[in-house]
Amino acid sequence: MQEELFKNIISHSKEYGFIFPGSEIYDGLGAVYDYGQNGVELKNNLRQYWWVAMTRWHENIAGIDAAILMHPTTWKASGHVDAFNDPLIDNKDSKKRYRADVLIEEFLAGIENKIEKEIEKSQKKFENFNRELFVSTNKRVLELREKHHAFHSRFKKAMEENNLAELRQIIVDAEIVCPISGSRNWTEVRQFNLMFSTRLGSVSSEADEIYLRPETAQGIFVNFLNVQKSGRMKVPFGIAQTGKAFRNEIVARQFIFRMREFEQMEMQFFVRPGTEMEWYEYWKDNRLKWHLAMGIPADHYRFHDHTKLAHYANAACDIEFRFPFGFKELEGIHSRTDFDLSQHEKYSGKKLQYFDVELNKSYVPYVIETSVGLDRLFLAVLSASYKEEKLENNEERVVLNIPAPLAPFKAAVFPLVKKDGLPEKAEKIFKRLRKYVRCDFEEKDTVGRRYRRHDAIGTPFCITVDYDTMKDDTVTVRFRDTMEQKRMNIDEAVNFVIRESDLVIWYD
Ligand code: GAP
Repeated sequence: MQEELFKNIISHSKEYGFIFPGSEIYDGLGAVYDYGQNGVELKNNLRQYWWVAMTRWHENIAGIDAAILMHPTTWKASGHVDAFNDPLIDNKDSKKRYRADVLIEEFLAGIENKIEKEIEKSQKKFENFNRELFVSTNKRVLELREKHHAFHSRFKKAMEENNLAELRQIIVDAEIVCPISGSRNWTEVRQFNLMFSTRLGSVSSEADEIYLRPETAQGIFVNFLNVQKSGRMKVPFGIAQTGKAFRNEIVARQFIFRMREFEQMEMQFFVRPGTEMEWYEYWKDNRLKWHLAMGIPADHYRFHDHTKLAHYANAACDIEFRFPFGFKELEGIHSRTDFDLSQHEKYSGKKLQYFDVELNKSYVPYVIETSVGLDRLFLAVLSASYKEEKLENNEERVVLNIPAPLAPFKAAVFPLVKKDGLPEKAEKIFKRLRKYVRCDFEEKDTVGRRYRRHDAIGTPFCITVDYDTMKDDTVTVRFRDTMEQKRMNIDEAVNFVIRESDLVIWYD
């Protein structure tokens, strides 16, 4: 059911100009997508919401836009050259490459599904079904649980110890087959670096190898002193930026959830050492509030605290979102200590320190990072907004309940009919409104059809000009979510749409 829903969301995205497969006329390019005419508006609005919340609603956060191409030593210092790897395995028959950890995760998810199916089957059979009693006594369920536990423990240990041989052995013991060839003819597991590399200049040589940035954060770290000095920033302060990042993901599936070219919105908050846990809690709370302000129900979000921390972090968590394929990471919040700045000091030979007047000493600030994928955020908003509704008159509609400040069009203005001066009157309202918000003007088809089309792209308000408008300057405002209609005078309707479309309504 959820799978079906996800498929419908993907085809809806294409049909209504939100997302197209990249280079589609050449049969597409794996895990690369293009945003269409409505998608780009939603994406820009989401970016703007983040940008305003960071750089306008926090007086101590400055925004920058660093280059995608950075000096190659940046990635040596950050650890990406040596440790930004995925464990990969090839099937010798199909020649297909997989992420070993994902093959095992999918195998474990398969066992979990089987357990759920057993439970569902029995639930249907027995009226007085007691789930706990059933789970603790049913032989088949117990066997499956034991199997899951055994493989899960081995997998966890192998991942923690970075034991590639054991990952392969788990694949062999679990009898995992290649989905293409159906064979178990596997190679060894090898580490594969996720960075895309290219060459600088026209003459190629080893020394000119540079990388497309795999995260935007390093552009912030290398500019820490530039911003601090030119902006006379005092710790604690933050630097925010949005921009493209590139990763040669092997398991590039689930639509725009995992892409090879994607956009991040990252903020590094520089704090006095010793105060980082306070700020970590502040940003956890602040970021969740930011997500919730969009109005998606709170049960779509949860925190996942990392138990296994990267060597440089002293706390880390994800905000996970309930996508149609389950809870998955949407945003990461990390307390990264002074690792990045210290590494750049070491590799560049330049001091990256802050002189704290109150303490009368210099130090390398500690950093709290918030990092959210714009495309994942887009998918979260799109999938939570997508509704297939059955209406009273047996009709059906697909509606996107995108919050007004984020919607591609804030309003559509329609003349009821294409005569008697109604189109001219409607066009006047449209031209007045479009100075402030993005809106549409449509005069083709019945009003009902025009409503449906705008429901499908998430336009929150439709304004219809009819014969009464010609007499008393009132219009009908139709609300997308409730389908209610309200009579307002033109000024009231215009002001209403402008007010409802403003991000400020979420400012706390
Ligand atoms: N600077 C920290 C950093 O890059 P990350 O967890 O690797 O951390 C942060 O990435 C966010 O970027 C993720 O929470 C996710 O939203 C997004 N992201 C990461 N890889 C992605 C991909 N291949 N496609 C789409 N979004 C991705």
